[in-house]
Amino acid sequence: MRRRTFLRASMTAVAAALTGVRLRASAPFGATAATDDKPAPPFPKGFLFGAATSAVQIEGGAKEDGKGESNWDHFARIPGMIHDGSTPDVACDSYHKWPEDVALLKRMNLSSYRFSIAWPRILPAGRGKVNQKGLDYYSRMVDALLEAGIRPLATAFHWDLPQPLEEAGGWANRETASYFADYVGILAQALGDRVRNWCLLNEPQAFTLCGYGWGIFPPGRKERGLMLKATHTANLAQGLGFRAMKARNAALRLGIAHDFVLGRPLTDSAADRAAWKRYDAFRNRWFLDPAFTGQYPEAFEGGIPASEMNLRPDDDIILKAPLDFSGINYYCEYEYWAAGGKQELLQGLNARVEKPAEQYYPQGMAEVVSRISREYRRPVEITETGRVERDVPDAEGRVKDPGRIAFLRSVLSSLGRAIADGADVRAIHYWSLLDDWEWHIGFRERIGLTYVDYEKGQKRTLKDSGAWYGEVARTGRIPAE
Ligand code: FCB
Repeated sequence: MRRRTFLRASMTAVAAALTGVRLRASAPFGATAATDDKPAPPFPKGFLFGAATSAVQIEGGAKEDGKGESNWDHFARIPGMIHDGSTPDVACDSYHKWPEDVALLKRMNLSSYRFSIAWPRILPAGRGKVNQKGLDYYSRMVDALLEAGIRPLATAFHWDLPQPLEEAGGWANRETASYFADYVGILAQALGDRVRNWCLLNEPQAFTLCGYGWGIFPPGRKERGLMLKATHTANLAQGLGFRAMKARNAALRLGIAHDFVLGRPLTDSAADRAAWKRYDAFRNRWFLDPAFTGQYPEAFEGGIPASEMNLRPDDDIILKAPLDFSGINYYCEYEYWAAGGKQELLQGLNARVEKPAEQYYPQGMAEVVSRISREYRRPVEITETGRVERDVPDAEGRVKDPGRIAFLRSVLSSLGRAIADGADVRAIHYWSLLDDWEWHIGFRERIGLTYVDYEKGQKRTLKDSGAWYGEVARTGRIPAE
């Protein structure tokens, strides 16, 4: 959705990317036939229905209990960077209200909660001294989740880099990969006895491109060399982090949360087919292939830009980290790609997107999971999917969001069919449990299963979609319309 919109639109015009989310409910021309009229089979026993959040977007408590400054705390203070001028200082105040959030998960019968750990809460300077109060916060929440019968799925890095590390070069600095490995080793040690499932990185494509290439995420840089280096450091971090955690606890299940975009060549010409292949390699495989094979996919004409990436001869050994599961964030985008386009930043990709903004394809869920299970041969978890709506409570305070329910119905039906056809998918997490602070968009749009009244004490109200999803979680079936 919006991040993907940014990545995509940035290749044509950054301005278009800043217009936010535009969704429509029709399948794209020529896409795999939708089969939504057939009733979806029930989900297998043991399948986990969950919800997702991230630290910056819900916690607040930006300066509490020894937390250090994050790159997002810093960036949000630069005028013009956040659309509504807001900051993540308070967000949904989950730093204090997390017991209410656990109660909401329970009320919806959810069995998995994906949340992230704020690196600056654990290591305020990014490395060195550990802040025990930060670890205690997550430890308490994990205990409460387990007590409620909810599986914790923790993300080690969901975009909030400690500001001192950003100032030392951030992800463009190769050393960040080692700092990351030290950090996740601490997490494995402190929480690994209870948190068995981890996403090492959330959407590395987004934080490296948007931060160092398009300049719309921290640190706001727009340099091809930095951006390419950042992608490589993130892959090195994945490899080193994987080993650091496994060394502490071999029983941990480690994966990634990777955003995936479906698409196809605009025409059947050899040039368009090759353009789509290159784009797909960069957009969909750049952070998966190195983990599974140690090699980057061929995304650029003329080969991998190794010197710009600062790729060293033995890096393949570090990159290879056979993840235990593939986590997929799928926001139902479908794109058409053609050869050509002017891109200084992504020179060599030689691909341009056509018909970008409105493609919206929830039925594509089946295609994504089938492809990922086939290509990487690992269990899949849907780590995020979700839909923005213009939610407004009615006079009684009820939030009716039929559009989101229709979205969930489509996505879940598609997923249910893929599972019945043999795809090994273990869980789905709706993004998000709560309306939240959506990065550079701020609070302007609502995406949660729960309405948050930011003006009135952060009051939480379960939306109709939350109740509907809760019934699916309870019964394992999608109710008839
Ligand atoms: C994803 C991010 C997540 C949230 C959703 C809407 O790209 O991982 O933090 O912002 O988009």
